[in-house]
Amino acid sequence: MKFFIDTANLDQIREAQELGVLDGVTTNPSLMAKEGITGRNNILKHYVDICEIVDGDVSAEVIATDFENIIKEGEELAELHEQIVVKVPMIKDGVKALKYFSDKGIRTNCTLVFSAGQALLAAKAGATYVSPFIGRLDDISTDGLNLIAEIRHIYDNYGYETQILAASVRHTMHVLECAKIGADVMTGGLGAITGLLNHPLTDIGLEKFLADYKKGNE
Ligand code: E4P
Repeated sequence: MKFFIDTANLDQIREAQELGVLDGVTTNPSLMAKEGITGRNNILKHYVDICEIVDGDVSAEVIATDFENIIKEGEELAELHEQIVVKVPMIKDGVKALKYFSDKGIRTNCTLVFSAGQALLAAKAGATYVSPFIGRLDDISTDGLNLIAEIRHIYDNYGYETQILAASVRHTMHVLECAKIGADVMTGGLGAITGLLNHPLTDIGLEKFLADYKKGNE
């Protein structure tokens, strides 16, 4: 399973990259705003800065919601850097744009997906990635992981190549369950990745190994 980090914070992206397990980055307009990145030129420059830190795909989201402007914006984003994947919302003009980009060889991430039907449409339109938001479904008492399983089942039935990018991942259990189901990618905060490191028996075991070494080598 590929690990993406869901942030526009350069320090956190660097930290995940240095850990050696990062495969890409997802951003969205809220995450850019959280980092205080505003104004078109600053936003475009920030995407390039992110691409220069990581080796993998970097999702950059369009703001437009009509076909013509989604295309214009998406093409501008795709030209910024070869690692850019154009993030397009799951709306009618978005689906048309996914097909357009797919025909032109521009890679896409279909975002704001909350149902298996939406994921099926995204795959038929040729999206590179589909992003079901599991945490936000959990927030409204709907099983987000079940959606990942439904999409996996449907895509496997027909051999769709669209990669399932489990988004809105909030904690390590989401990561593990997504891995068991067979999501292709997960994106979450730095804590969802580094949290996988932790186990109290590891800490206790290491402390004992080091103490025993010290006893025998003093
Ligand atoms: C996905 O690409 C989105 O940026 C993200 O995962 C949304 O997560 P949130 O529900 O934690 O905002």
